[in-house]
Amino acid sequence: THTPSKSLPNLKYSKKRNADPEVTLLNFLRKNWTLLIKYACGRGGCGACTVMVSKHDPVSAKIRHFSITACLVPICSLYGAAVTTVEGIGSINTRLHPVQERIARSHGTQCGFCTPGMVMSMYTLLRNHLQPSEEQLMEALGGNLCRCTGYRPILASGRTFCVESTGCQKKRTGKCCLDLGGNDSSSLSRESDICTDLFVEEEFQPLDPTQELIFPPELLRMAKNPEKQTLTFCGERVTWISPGTLKDLLELKAKHPEAPLILGNTSLGPAMKSQGRVHPILLSPARISELSMVFKTSDGLTIGAGCSLAQVKDILAEQVSELPEEKTQTYRALLKHLKSLAGQQIRNMASLGGHVISRHCYSDLNPILVVGNATLNLISEGTRQIPLNDHFLAGLASADLKPEEILESVYIPHSQKWEFVSAFRQAQCQQNALADVSAGMRVILEEATDTIKELSLSYGGVGESTIGAHKSCQQLIGRPWNEPMLEEACRLLLEEVSLPGWAPGGRVEFKRTLVVSFFFKFYLEVLQELKKLVKVSDSHHYPEISDRFLSALEDFPVTGPRGVQRYQSVDSHQSLQDPVGRPIMHLSGLKHATGEAIFCDDIPMVDRELFMVLVTSTKAHAKIISIDLSEALELPGVVDVITAEDIPGTNGAEDDKLLAVDEVLCVGQIICAVVAETDVQAKRAIEKIKITYKDLEPIIFTINDAIKHNSFLCPEKKLEQGNIEEAFEKVDQIVEGEVHVGGQEHFYMETQRVIVIPKAEDKELDIYVSTQDPAHVQKTVSSTLNIPINRITCHVKRVGGGFGGKVGRPAVFGAIAAVGAIKTGRPIRLVLDREDDMLITGGRHPLFGKYKVGFMNNGRIKALDIECFINGGCTLDDSEQVTEFLILKLENAYKIRNLRFRGRACMTNLPSNTAFRGFGFPQGTLITESCITAVAAKCGLLPEEIREKNMYKTIDKTIYKQAFSPETLIRCWNECLDKSSFHSRRIQVEEFNKKNYWKKKGIAIIPMKFSVGFAATSYHQAAALVHIYTDGSVLVTHGGNELGQGIHTKMLQVASRELKLPMSYMHICETSTATVPNTIATAASIGSDVNGKAVQNACQILLKRLEPIIKKNPGGTWEDWIEAAFEQRISLSATGYFRGYKADMDWEKGEGDPFPYYVYGAACSEVEIDCLTGAHKKIRTDIIMDACCSLNPAIDIGQVEGSFIQGMGLYTTEELKYSPEGVLYSRGPDEYKIPTITDVPEEFNVSLLPSSQTPLTIYSSKGLGESGMFLGSSVFFAITDAVAAACKERDIVEDFIVKSPATPEQVRMACADRFTEMVRNYCLLS
Ligand SMILES: Cc1cc2nc3c(=O)[nH]c(=O)nc-3n(C[C@H](O)[C@H](O)[C@H](O)COP(=O)(O)OP(=O)(O)OC[C@H]3O[C@@H](n4cnc5c(N)ncnc54)[C@H](O)[C@@H]3O)c2cc1C
Ligand code: FES
Ligand code: FES
Repeated sequence: THTPSKSLPNLKYSKKRNADPEVTLLNFLRKNWTLLIKYACGRGGCGACTVMVSKHDPVSAKIRHFSITACLVPICSLYGAAVTTVEGIGSINTRLHPVQERIARSHGTQCGFCTPGMVMSMYTLLRNHLQPSEEQLMEALGGNLCRCTGYRPILASGRTFCVESTGCQKKRTGKCCLDLGGNDSSSLSRESDICTDLFVEEEFQPLDPTQELIFPPELLRMAKNPEKQTLTFCGERVTWISPGTLKDLLELKAKHPEAPLILGNTSLGPAMKSQGRVHPILLSPARISELSMVFKTSDGLTIGAGCSLAQVKDILAEQVSELPEEKTQTYRALLKHLKSLAGQQIRNMASLGGHVISRHCYSDLNPILVVGNATLNLISEGTRQIPLNDHFLAGLASADLKPEEILESVYIPHSQKWEFVSAFRQAQCQQNALADVSAGMRVILEEATDTIKELSLSYGGVGESTIGAHKSCQQLIGRPWNEPMLEEACRLLLEEVSLPGWAPGGRVEFKRTLVVSFFFKFYLEVLQELKKLVKVSDSHHYPEISDRFLSALEDFPVTGPRGVQRYQSVDSHQSLQDPVGRPIMHLSGLKHATGEAIFCDDIPMVDRELFMVLVTSTKAHAKIISIDLSEALELPGVVDVITAEDIPGTNGAEDDKLLAVDEVLCVGQIICAVVAETDVQAKRAIEKIKITYKDLEPIIFTINDAIKHNSFLCPEKKLEQGNIEEAFEKVDQIVEGEVHVGGQEHFYMETQRVIVIPKAEDKELDIYVSTQDPAHVQKTVSSTLNIPINRITCHVKRVGGGFGGKVGRPAVFGAIAAVGAIKTGRPIRLVLDREDDMLITGGRHPLFGKYKVGFMNNGRIKALDIECFINGGCTLDDSEQVTEFLILKLENAYKIRNLRFRGRACMTNLPSNTAFRGFGFPQGTLITESCITAVAAKCGLLPEEIREKNMYKTIDKTIYKQAFSPETLIRCWNECLDKSSFHSRRIQVEEFNKKNYWKKKGIAIIPMKFSVGFAATSYHQAAALVHIYTDGSVLVTHGGNELGQGIHTKMLQVASRELKLPMSYMHICETSTATVPNTIATAASIGSDVNGKAVQNACQILLKRLEPIIKKNPGGTWEDWIEAAFEQRISLSATGYFRGYKADMDWEKGEGDPFPYYVYGAACSEVEIDCLTGAHKKIRTDIIMDACCSLNPAIDIGQVEGSFIQGMGLYTTEELKYSPEGVLYSRGPDEYKIPTITDVPEEFNVSLLPSSQTPLTIYSSKGLGESGMFLGSSVFFAITDAVAAACKERDIVEDFIVKSPATPEQVRMACADRFTEMVRNYCLLS
């Protein structure tokens, strides 16, 4: 039950309750207390499972509240702690907590899967700081991922609690800072009916701290009189021992020297999970206060090994504020990294001791502790100290802890005058990402000179452990701190630090470059510090840093994004009750925020339910020789193993089998499925299944290999216009280039899930599934089981994000689970772990494109020839349609008379790639836009000039001869230029670049013509079913699925307008194949469009039936009319239908009307790059999107923002990594970096273009689900613009190979300089 607050059971008694040390808090809360806390990654990396833990701190005698990720916390570790979950702080049935209310009303929820975690991170912050600063807010949310919203609205809700911020002045002056920038002649600012408020802050209930839950008095009593006796919890495989005294702990450690100490479990937990390792005994020192002590002495600081990293951060901050700067050099360096190390939850859980002892090669803190001469205070029978040095970190027995020893504390000495310590790190993104390279650097100079007295340099990420550059440092002692020393140091470092040809995670050249680039930064930092000191002791002259080089010193600060969202307000004559066009909150918003929104796996366990786990291929291309299930079947709890032989009907398609038979085509292909009483038993059983394979040839992973082997999934798709060959002969110049776009993982927060419940009669099945296409699941299950479709009912309440990834695949999981259900006669639940989800399901197609573009010297493009290939993976899936869409959309916004577009889908031995938001457009159009930048570079013009020159200007026909008017496109472009003050900022960017050598800015503006819908008429249909009940309430059902995009909210807005009835009368329960049959996937941006028309139709039918009654009693109420209608036997139920748009394409002729309409838009982004590290900061983005008459501006702006940020991820940080054997490495949020809250542009403005109309769609609105994705490329082109500025300055000849994502590695290596040169020379020599 959801009681307001839950303190965990007193674990003193949990021996009797049998608390299993292997059970995490997440599993405990979900299974034992059926709370709806969310699982999304299970590795602490996404924050979906965030809860607040409160503990009495014996040292400060205060209650400490902190956020944690429940998926990593063993239940046994919570002895004496109170846990507060999202259900505990408020409910829609009782009282909402202001955090819950505000996140929902600020439109901070879309699918809602991340929302409980967001709420709890914010709630915990407010428990500690009633009026937090923005910095604290950003810090609190840094560990929470959201794949839908783009974070801006979440932050907006949190900001309402903050101390008045200094950003936008709108609150105070009523005039937004952005209005000052734009040219007043723009149509947006001329419109008086433009709104910028999506919610009314004044309506929010105030935060009243007196209403918060108190720390349970029983736990307080326990904390004040701590028990000293040892607590032991025995699980099936693991025993948890928690001694009450240090003496007992030491005795236990001596008795069980192999047993690890468990603190935050952030290192042990993920390792145990990924390696399947079991420690039979775990020793928990959580109750030992000696490990949490902090001692400040005159020469240093001793911090208990049990202190969390968050506590260490506070302690260091205190020291920095108390001591003179010269003493706190090491502390400042540690603080710098503690701000970006993981998310807040992990910092709250992870201990200093655990961090040091784990010795991760990527550790951020160990390199600094090493150079800072930290020592480890060890304790067993006696005490001793060992240095925290490379030998210790490399695990050398002579320098390590003895098995019976534990780490009590870490001593970090103060620094002294003439001592300088710095820290550096570079990761895929700035925050919450493991560093590619981290470094700690320290130098002591002879007093008042520039002579090196002592030097220590330590690097993480470049070897198997943290590596020190002792030899280099030794050789530099006595040298002056000047340029020749820098040169020599780099040479020495390259020889000593980088292991030749190898480094963890690859990226060897990049890492080597960072090794020297960081040292260069350190060199400059020390010079800068010396400059300050020199004023005091004016005895020495140090090398001057030129002003242009100073920019190398600054790190990009983390700032909360600001911005304005503009939309056209509804007509002043529109009835107040009519919700169409208003920013109505997502129907489930409040339930998302309280955790009461039910997702598939939140459905309580049904009677006799079994759990299914999939067994997948470990080979990329092989013959299956044998499958031995015997050992697995004997394990306790295992009920059955489902193989292809158990399928009563068809096993998928001939070339795309549900369960592999004889042959596997990729790693991750499903071979069979274990069915067991519990998930734990099923997971253990899959390890016992023995499959033998015989490798087959060829094995193809890349597009290049596929081309070589002529391995394609479908015939080439081609469109042509004009005479390309002739045109190439007449142009002034020709450029040829290549574009490579990496794939993308959907990373929906809710992984694939399905529950199949067989019914007692007539082979009926109820299927609850997270899908965008329940009819497809239903059909696939029917053919797999060989039973008619009418026996199968699929239900979709809501989906925790789809993005195209839940169109095709859920049918596979549904069908396999259904086979299990039929075979065992019992309900089956199948919930994919994040790792399995990422391994099994494909994503966006990677692309390789070659172009040849012919143009005149003035930038007019006359001919464009593009040939592209996408990596389809091992089966066809949607690859043919993706190729078609890609080709159809390649021209984007440009009128080029002579075109040839060709595309093919390659067959490779990777999981099949599938639909993904934008469906080929975001990849393909990057080629077109890259051509533009190439032409600009060759003509010596700016890319925006080339764009404008070649854009469609008048009513015209596309390459496939579909007529359209580009008027709105041009309006979007002009508005964007204007609103972003593009031209003046272009000049400012150039000015900045002239003044700064190591930092460069870039700016880009991109136009977009995006076609909406499926290119097939039969896909454009929809149906709805509307019932009016005798109390007047209305139940609306339609064929669209709620994926977070707010379709249900929009549908009720439509029904409300049509029936002239407030939305409060209406309800949508679910999407079900029993109420609306034969539905089309909710995809291609037209879900609301076509279903809206169907709902409208149903409502109009009903209203027509009611008209005579209303006419007869015009003064009556709705309830009166409904009662009368019932009395008069008028049907109060109607089916609505929309026989949608015609959309045909004749590929033979290369002509057709494949799309119902276009969405136009434009985006301008500005970035700053750090040429030394490859990092970038997004300074500002302005988007203008043509939504026509938005049904719901809050939802539509949310779609634009969310898809833009997802696109930005595609083009900047999201990188899939495979092993040489085709195994996906990046299988979780640690390795695969989707944007976090700190990645949002500092200024982020979105405007919906006003006064635009389309006669075709429901109330003249447009579907915006996908289009924003491509606008993320404005960030990519801004980065390439900045890189081009760096290259120009360095006289690097432009190369026309474009690679997306523009990761720090790509950017750093493109900004070639003396350091990249040194690395290349070193590689040539070695
Ligand atoms: C999502 C995520 C993101 C992360 N991001 C970063 C990052 O950006 N940068 C970074 O540097 N690190 C990062 N980490 C790693 C993190 O810093 C370490 O996992 C953490 O510090 C380990 O501490 P712990 O208390 O959880 O250790 P535990 O997992 O509890 O224990 C780890 C090991 O330390 C030993 N141990 C612990 N205390 C003692 C003691 N007192 N005496 C003897 N042995 C002891 C245990 O026996 C065990 O072997 C991340 C981890 C996660 C899960
Ligand atoms: S599920 Fe716990 S952090 Fe992702
Ligand atoms: S709303 Fe955040 S993940 Fe969907």
